[in-house]
Amino acid sequence: MPDYKRHLVTAALPYANGPVHIGHLAGVYVPADIYTRYLRQNGKDVLFICGSDEHGVPITLKAKTEGITPQDVVDRYHAINKAAFADFGISFDIYHRTSAPIHHQTASAFFRKLYDDGEFLEKTTEQFFDEANQQFLADRYITGTCPHCGNEKAYGDQCEKCGTSLSPMELINPKSMLSGNAPILKETKHWFLPLDKHEPWLKKWILEDHTEWRSNVYGQCKSWLDQGLQARAVSRDLDWGVPVPVEGAEGKVLYVWFDAPIGYISATRELTPDWEKYWKSEDSRMVHFIGKDNIVFHCIIFPAMLKAHGEYILPDNVPANEFLNLEGEKISTSRNWAVWLHEYLEEFPGKQDVLRYVLTANAPEAKDNDFTWKDFQTRNNNELVAVLGNFVNRTLVLTQKYFDGKCPDLNELADYDKTTLGEITAIKTRVEQSLESFRIREALNEAMSLARLGNKYLAETEPWKLFPTDPARVATILHVSLQITANLTLLLDSFLPFTMKQLRSFLNIPEMPWSTIGSVNMIPSGHQLEKPELLFEKIEDFQVDFQVKKLLETKKLNEAKAAGIAPSKSAVSYDDFSAMDIRIATVLEAEKVPKTQKLMKLKVDTGMDIRTVVSGIAEHFEAKDLIGKQVTLLANLEPRMIKGIESKGMILLAEDNSGKLIFVTPEEAMPNGSVVK
Ligand code: MF3
Ligand code: ZN
Repeated sequence: MPDYKRHLVTAALPYANGPVHIGHLAGVYVPADIYTRYLRQNGKDVLFICGSDEHGVPITLKAKTEGITPQDVVDRYHAINKAAFADFGISFDIYHRTSAPIHHQTASAFFRKLYDDGEFLEKTTEQFFDEANQQFLADRYITGTCPHCGNEKAYGDQCEKCGTSLSPMELINPKSMLSGNAPILKETKHWFLPLDKHEPWLKKWILEDHTEWRSNVYGQCKSWLDQGLQARAVSRDLDWGVPVPVEGAEGKVLYVWFDAPIGYISATRELTPDWEKYWKSEDSRMVHFIGKDNIVFHCIIFPAMLKAHGEYILPDNVPANEFLNLEGEKISTSRNWAVWLHEYLEEFPGKQDVLRYVLTANAPEAKDNDFTWKDFQTRNNNELVAVLGNFVNRTLVLTQKYFDGKCPDLNELADYDKTTLGEITAIKTRVEQSLESFRIREALNEAMSLARLGNKYLAETEPWKLFPTDPARVATILHVSLQITANLTLLLDSFLPFTMKQLRSFLNIPEMPWSTIGSVNMIPSGHQLEKPELLFEKIEDFQVDFQVKKLLETKKLNEAKAAGIAPSKSAVSYDDFSAMDIRIATVLEAEKVPKTQKLMKLKVDTGMDIRTVVSGIAEHFEAKDLIGKQVTLLANLEPRMIKGIESKGMILLAEDNSGKLIFVTPEEAMPNGSVVK
C-alpha cells in the first residue's frame, strides 16, 4: 500500500427506519470492520466512521403508518442498531446520526458554500403534487408501473424489481402513497448539481486512474459515464431533513442523498477536533464500504460534491458488495424476510464470531450469494469446530497433559516442522495481499489455511502416540503447534475478534502487532498457559430448524397479506371472550335509514326482548329480503345513538377481501336467544 499517513474508513450509514439485518452485515459492516481492524493491527492511524441515516422518505412514511413522529422512528432504530453493532464487535470509532445538530450545521454549510460558489443550477420544474394532502410527492411518496419491467409497485426513485433508478415522471399510472389518488403536476423550484459539468474529470479519475476498483464498481461507473451524466436535484419539497439554507426555500430540505454522505464528515467532526487532517490532506486515504445500490452516490455524486466544494480528498477505493439473499429469496425489511442482528444476538448469545465467519466465508463480493441456516450450521460444525477449534483444543489439551500447561522446549526440528513453520510467512503475505485488494473472503480462507495446516500437522505427527517412547519429539511438535496457534490469534483477529481474544487468554499472551506473524518465538519455552476451554461448540439441528420454522411462518404471513387477508389481532383472554353475549336472533322488520347510504334499521327478536339494531348493510341487501332471517347478534354491545336511533347490539357478518358481506346464519333454525359460544 502506498505510504498514506492516515486512513478514513467509512461504512454506509444505514437508514434508521428498521433494524440491521445479515444483508447489511455481509455487504458492508463485517468487511469494513475486518479491514479496519487489520489496519489497526498494522499500527495505522485510522478512523472508522458510521452512523444512522435519519432523513429521507422511508422514515417519514414509516412514521405515518405507525402514527408517530419521524424523530420517534429514528430514535428507536438508532438505539437498536447502535447497540447491536457494538455487541457484534463492529468497531466503529463513532456511530453518529444525521439528525444531530452538528450534522445539520455541516450539511447546511456545505450546501451554502456550493450555492455561493455558483455550483448549482436553480430550476423551476413541474413535480407531482397530491391535492388532497396539499403536498409534493418526492421519491417514495409516489408509486406506479415501472416502464422497464412492468412492476406495478415501482417507486418514484427506483424499481426494486429490476433495480433501475427512476424519476417520478417515468412511472406509468403514478399514484400518491398518501391519498392513493393520481397526482397533478405543479411547479416548484429546486437546486441541481450539474453532473454533466463534472463528467470529464470523473471519467479520467475513475476510468483511467482507478482501474484497480472492483469490476462490479468500475463497470457500474463506466455504464453511468458512458450514458452521459445529467444534472440532479439536490433538494426536495419535504418537511423532514436539513432545511435548504437559502432565502425563499421554505418547505424545502436537502435531498437525503445530498446530506447523508456529508454525515461521514459531521461524524468525524464530532469525533475529533483533528477531523480536517483526515478529510483535507492528500496523505490521508479514504475508503467507502457500501452495498451495490449505493455505487453511483459514492463514486460519482459525492465525489462531484467534494470536488465542487474544493477542500476535500476523494475516496481512493469504494469496495461495494453485491447482495446477500436469504434461503433463496431477496432480503426485505418490509416483508420481514431477514435475519435481524438484534434477534440473532439474543438467540445465539456469545456466537458473534460464528455469524461473522459465515458471512465472510460466503460474502457476496463478486455476485449475489445465498445465506441458508443449513450452511450456517455446516460451516460452524465442519470448519470452526472441526478445523480451527479442534486444532487449538488438541494443542492446548496435550500441552496441559504432558507438560503441565508450559510451552515445551523446541528440540531438533524435522524437515516437516521447518516447512510447516515456513508456511506461516507465506500465508501472512497472501492474507495481506487479499485484504489490501479487498478480497476479504479470500483472505479469511487463506488465514484459515493455517488452521488446516496445523490440523494436518497434528494428524500426521500423532504426538499422542509418541509420548511414551519419545517425549522430546512430542515437546517439539507441541512447541511448533503452539507457535502456529499464537500466529492464528493474529491472522484471525480481525475476522474472529471475540474468539481470538479468548484464545490469547488461554495462551496467556498479549495483543501483538501484525508484523509479529512468522517470528518463530511468539511463545517462549517454559511460558505458562492458562486452562483452555472449547472455542466453538456444535450447532444442533434443532437450533437451525427453529430458525427455518420462523422463516416459514413469515412466508405464510406474507402470502396471507398478498392475498388480502386481514392480519391477525393480538390475543384476548378467555374472560374477555366469555364477557361477550352472542345470540341467535330473527329479523322482524327492516327499513333503510332515510338520507343515509349505508344504514339499515332492523327490529329483531332476541328471545330475551325485541329491540332495534342499526347496521351498515344497506348497500348490500334489500330490506324485504331480510325479514324472517336468522342472524348472529353481539347482544351486550353498549347501546349507541346512530342518526337519532338507539342501536342495541351488533349483527355479525363475514367479509371477504373484496368487501362482499354475508350473514352468519345458523345452519338449521334455532330458537331465538340461543347462545353462541
Ligand atoms: N442509507 C443509505 C442506504 O441504506 C446509505 C447512505 S450512505 C451515505 O442505502 F453515504 F449516504 F451515508
Ligand atoms: Zn422495473
